[in-house]
Amino acid sequence: MKTSDSIFLRALNKESLKIPPIWYMRQAGRYMPEYRAIRRKFKNFLDMCKNPEVCCELALQPINAFNLDASILFSDILTIPDAFGLGVEFLEGEGPVFNNPIKTSKDITNLPEFNPEDLSYVYKAVFNIKSALPSNIPLIGFCGSPWTLAAYSIEGKSSKDFNYTRNFIQQNKDSAHLFLEKLTNACFQYLKKQVHAGADVIQIFDSWANLLNEEEYNLYSMCYIKKLIALLKEDEETSKIPIILFARDPSFSTNKMTESNSDCLSLFWNIDKIDKSYLQGKVALQGNLNPKILLEDDNLIKAELNKVLNIFSNYPGYIFNLGHGITPDINPDKIKFITELIRSQ
Ligand code: CP3
Repeated sequence: MKTSDSIFLRALNKESLKIPPIWYMRQAGRYMPEYRAIRRKFKNFLDMCKNPEVCCELALQPINAFNLDASILFSDILTIPDAFGLGVEFLEGEGPVFNNPIKTSKDITNLPEFNPEDLSYVYKAVFNIKSALPSNIPLIGFCGSPWTLAAYSIEGKSSKDFNYTRNFIQQNKDSAHLFLEKLTNACFQYLKKQVHAGADVIQIFDSWANLLNEEEYNLYSMCYIKKLIALLKEDEETSKIPIILFARDPSFSTNKMTESNSDCLSLFWNIDKIDKSYLQGKVALQGNLNPKILLEDDNLIKAELNKVLNIFSNYPGYIFNLGHGITPDINPDKIKFITELIRSQ
C-alpha cells in the first residue's frame, strides 16, 4: 500500500472514515516497561535522543505493542534550544533544566546562528524509523512552536505560570520578537530536514498556548506559527506535507487556530471552545480524550470514549488521539483496551 492511501493521510485529507486512524501523543514513553528498560541505560535523556538506533527502537515500541495507524519520531522539542547552545539537561523528577538560559536581551543578540546540521542525529532517527515502518504507517516529524520554545529557553526550566518569562517579554519586547523570529527560522530549517529524511506529516506542539490571552497569543505565538507554516507551504519540498497544530488549553475559541493555515487541529480535552460546524471542511480534527480517564475502570473509560466518538464520528477528517500526552502512570493495557474498542465499533 502507498503511504498516501493510509487511513491517517486520508483522514488528514478530510476524508470521512468508518473507523478513525488512531495514534497517541507521547505514545513512546515511561508508561511502557519496554521503554524503561532502554531508558535505564542512559543517564541523560538527551543522550538517548542523540542515538538514532535507539530512537528508532523506541518509536517502534508502541507500533508493535498496539498496532497504531501513525508513528511519531522519537526525540524532544528541546533539541532546538540545545542546538542554540542553551545546554538542555533533563533532571530526574524535575523535567528539563537549561544550563545557559536566556537572561538578558544581549543573550538573544549574541545567540549563535542556528546550524541545522547540529541536529543531524534527529534526521538520522527519522530515516531509520521511516525505513523500518511498513508503508501504510506514516511517520510524524515534529517541533515545538516558537513561543513554547522561547518560554522554556527564558524560564530555564518547566514552570506552572512562567512568570519570569512573562516579565522578561514585557520588559524586552524587541528582543523577544527577535528571539521568536530566530526560533521560527530554526524550526523551518529543522522541519525541512525531517521531511527530507522521510517524515510524512508534521506536528507543531504549542504546549504553552494556555499562558496567553487572545491578544498576547496573536502577538507572541500565532504570528510565528503562521510564519512557520507559510514557509513550509511555500517550500517545494514541504508544501504537500500535512501540518497538525496542537495547542494546549487555549483561552479562546478553537476557531482562531484555523488562522494558522494548518491542515489539522489537535484538540485539548475541553470541548466548550470547539465549534465543529465552523471547523468542518477547513481542517481535520485530532483528539481528544482526557488522558486521566485512562486511570479509571473500564466501564467509565468506555463511557467517556463513546462521548468523544459520538462528537466526532461523522466529522470529515477525524483522527482519534488524547487531549494531551500519555502520562507515566497509565497502564499500557488501557491503551490496548481503547484501541481495540474503537476498532470494534
Ligand atoms: O512518542 C512520543 O511522543 C515521544 C516523542 C516525544 C517526547 N517529547 C519524548 C519525551 C515528543 C513528541 C515530545 C514532545 C515534547 N517534549 C513536548 C510537547 C508535547 C507536550 O507534552 O505538550 C514538550 C512540552 C516536551 C518537553 C519535555 N520533554 C518535558 C517537559 C519533559 C519532562 C517531563 C515529561 O513530560 O516527561 C520531557 C521529557 C521527555 N520527552 C520524556 C519523553 C519520553 C521522558 C524523559 C525520561 O524518560 O526521563
